[in-house]
Amino acid sequence: MCGIVGYTGYENAEGIIVDGLKRLEYRGYDSAGIAVLTDKGLQVRKKKGKIENLEKLLMEESLTGTTGIGHTRWATHGSPSDVNAHPHLSMDGKIAVVHNGIVENYVELREDLAKNHGIKFITETDTEVIAQLISVKYGENGGNLENAVRDTVKMLKGAYAICVIAADTPDKIVAYRKDAPLIVGLGKKRNFIASDIPAVLKYVKEILLVENQELVICTPEQVKIYNSEGREVSREPMFIKWSIEDAEKGGYEHFTIKEIYEQPKAIKETLMRRIDDEGHVKLDGIYISAEELNSYDKIYIVACGTAYHAGLVGKYAIEKMARIPVEVDIASEFRYRDPLVDEHTLFIAISQSGETLDTLEALREAKSKGARVLSVVNVVGSSVARESDDVFYTWAGPEIAVASTKAYTTQLICMYLIALYFGRLRGTITDEYYSFVLKELEAIPEKIEKVLEKAPEIENLARHLYNRTQVFFIGRGLDSAVSYEGSLKLKEISYINSFAIAAGELKHGTIALMEPETIVIALATQDALFDKMYSNIVEIKARFAHVVAIAKEGNTKIEAESSEVIYIPQCADEVTPLLSVVPLQLFAYYVAREKGEDIDKPRNLAKSVTVE
Ligand code: G6P
Repeated sequence: MCGIVGYTGYENAEGIIVDGLKRLEYRGYDSAGIAVLTDKGLQVRKKKGKIENLEKLLMEESLTGTTGIGHTRWATHGSPSDVNAHPHLSMDGKIAVVHNGIVENYVELREDLAKNHGIKFITETDTEVIAQLISVKYGENGGNLENAVRDTVKMLKGAYAICVIAADTPDKIVAYRKDAPLIVGLGKKRNFIASDIPAVLKYVKEILLVENQELVICTPEQVKIYNSEGREVSREPMFIKWSIEDAEKGGYEHFTIKEIYEQPKAIKETLMRRIDDEGHVKLDGIYISAEELNSYDKIYIVACGTAYHAGLVGKYAIEKMARIPVEVDIASEFRYRDPLVDEHTLFIAISQSGETLDTLEALREAKSKGARVLSVVNVVGSSVARESDDVFYTWAGPEIAVASTKAYTTQLICMYLIALYFGRLRGTITDEYYSFVLKELEAIPEKIEKVLEKAPEIENLARHLYNRTQVFFIGRGLDSAVSYEGSLKLKEISYINSFAIAAGELKHGTIALMEPETIVIALATQDALFDKMYSNIVEIKARFAHVVAIAKEGNTKIEAESSEVIYIPQCADEVTPLLSVVPLQLFAYYVAREKGEDIDKPRNLAKSVTVE
């Protein structure tokens, strides 16, 4: 959500910044802009819509200069428009700012600037206040940009990352981070600031993670970071091993399909690092003693969106294997409910990006009440990871498409590993069961390959069903958890109104909606619940709805009552979500493709939601 790129060096900044912005497109945005310090002062180009619109403008009115900042905006304050797009200039045109986040007290600041400094505002944004305020402070500080930024951030409330350049301070970018992601890319005679690593990966491999309340001063020759007390901090750079290709489409039409196909590899990676030579699960050096584990009277799993759906499966696995009560909650609900959390609670946050503000705030709430916080995160060094007591990385690799796929299945693997580890530690599972589930997990990548071979079948189905307007997903037990994820995928990328419900609940209301045009995707992969599920399908069929069933190979009985059946390979009931979600991901993808939607960047959505 919003992307920032800053560059200072000896080459022309324009192309480098636009390239960086393109790599941040996945975050979701509705306008883009760039400011460069040229020999005519600060010049800004910005445009509503896709980055291509900005590129067209730059072809007509290019910018020449070696220091600049760029931004992709996801509108919060003020509609998406050319004027509201970032960068924003101060009234005298001498300060340019890009900003990710929200300034909560911008109304008061705006009034004060207008009344006491005669500032006239031209946009509806909270960001313009920052530019104007820095300009005032720049004057008060005798033209010292870093001190102007320091004084300004003291007055801002909210969560934000900003990047600033000034007409009279050439070759310098000043940036500041508070609860919104920011990284520095270290190069030779050129340095970068960005919201995320892919923006700079084409140019540099050494990255510095900026911590909260740190100020960064970036020139072509050096980068200095200062903490909130104004002291310079030294930090070891991280060397990024993954290549730009890892974050690119590599021959696939969309990132979404590429990432669906990457699941076997991603799962292997997640598993491989966690099973030792003796075939035991190790939790990345996370040390929890049996005594400590026994002191927890409950586990809270808190997350948003797809990560929340992974939590639903996590609850099932942990309760079954470790016999500890688990509550799963949506982060934005948890934090405002005065939740019952104390030192006897283990709090597990799940987040692909590690930057979702609701999840981060829920984590802080739990921590302040004494809970130990373990996070399951994909992005290394992200805020959730940094603020947790323990981190269990998913190792899915960069996930670019907004709709989460490989992050979900690797999150599931992490939940199973945690459940097995806890179960063994507490002695609530036998050694045989432990080894059995581990073997089932190790067989998953190959079985997903088998499901992926069904892509043409699912594509064909999508071709026939893409114009329906109502789709239901139903299931029982673990199948119901997967139904929620299947429904979300379809909604997110194909914009079809879909709804997931536990199959047993159908008869308590939702069955009233069944009619011949309705599609019901019925997951029936749980052997233990198969007969119950079969009865539900029979009930639906009696209302003439179109049933697409997902079942394990061999359960052919279901064919009599379903219009289509997609089979997944035989496996233990416990691990079916890892397989049954794949046809649902493929179905959502092919339906969206058939409808011609913008699959990787669905309207109104953002990959990393850094506002409440
Ligand atoms: C957004 C994304 C979803 C994602 C959710 C949680 O809504 O569009 O795909 O599941 O945020 O994100 P996280 O990064 O915390 O997993």
